[in-house]
Amino acid sequence: MENPNQIVSDLNELLGSKSPEEVLDYMFNTFSGTVGFSTSLGVEDQVITHMLSTIKKHALIFTLDTGRLFPETYDLLDLTRKKYDLEIKVFFPESDRVQEMVNAKGINLFYDSIENRQLCCFVRKVEPLKRAFAGLDAWVCGLRRGQSPTRKNMKTIEWDANNGLLKINPLINWDENQVWKYVRDHSVPYNKLHDKGFPSIGCQPCTRAILEGEDVRAGRWWWENPDTRECGLHKKQ
Ligand code: ADX
Ligand code: SF4
Repeated sequence: MENPNQIVSDLNELLGSKSPEEVLDYMFNTFSGTVGFSTSLGVEDQVITHMLSTIKKHALIFTLDTGRLFPETYDLLDLTRKKYDLEIKVFFPESDRVQEMVNAKGINLFYDSIENRQLCCFVRKVEPLKRAFAGLDAWVCGLRRGQSPTRKNMKTIEWDANNGLLKINPLINWDENQVWKYVRDHSVPYNKLHDKGFPSIGCQPCTRAILEGEDVRAGRWWWENPDTRECGLHKKQ
């Protein structure tokens, strides 16, 4: 992309204060490049899927199946495909890489060190995401500023320098209450774990329920320092 910084600043000027629906409408129906939505099936992503179902019928939507997701997440994947009659393309890690990693370091290697955890996230998420990006000019995700200290300075449109494409965050300005109001108002299907103390859901062994008063991502990689808790999908540029 020629002069990405200029494109990012123009798009933020145009879309930075617009509603999530307007951002999605512009990116999927007016923007000249190819756009895909990466869903983890978390509640923010379910909101985006619902919005897209009216904005762009056959939007390109994909998810990364790490092989370690919760059964509830797999149930929701199927339910969502059926309810909205859409294709959610599933990307898997390379089996040889998983096999090599697990045989060398153990199935639950992530508890042993940050390096091991980052390796597992790389093999199971980051590498498959890079394959999912083939042919894309922009990817949409469900990040919100309030989710974590690592996300507090993010904008609606960012340049994803690690992957060389635009990153679109239509819900970046929304708070948790807005997300849940939308879910209730539009009967959006959501992961049952959200009602059991899991505001943020990733892989089963790396996600626990949060306690009263903890922040929404406290249950993700809870044994690590909050400032390092990103899996590599949303690395600081
Ligand atoms: S993570 O980096 O800590 O795992 P988080 O769960 O907050 O991310 O999700 C933020 C955004 O990253 C989601 O809205 C989604 O766009 C993308 N994402 C995270 N996990 C996945 C996944 N397994 N498949 C596809 N997209 C994902
Ligand atoms: Fe591996 Fe945990 Fe990262 Fe999932 S979240 S890819 S299980 S380290």
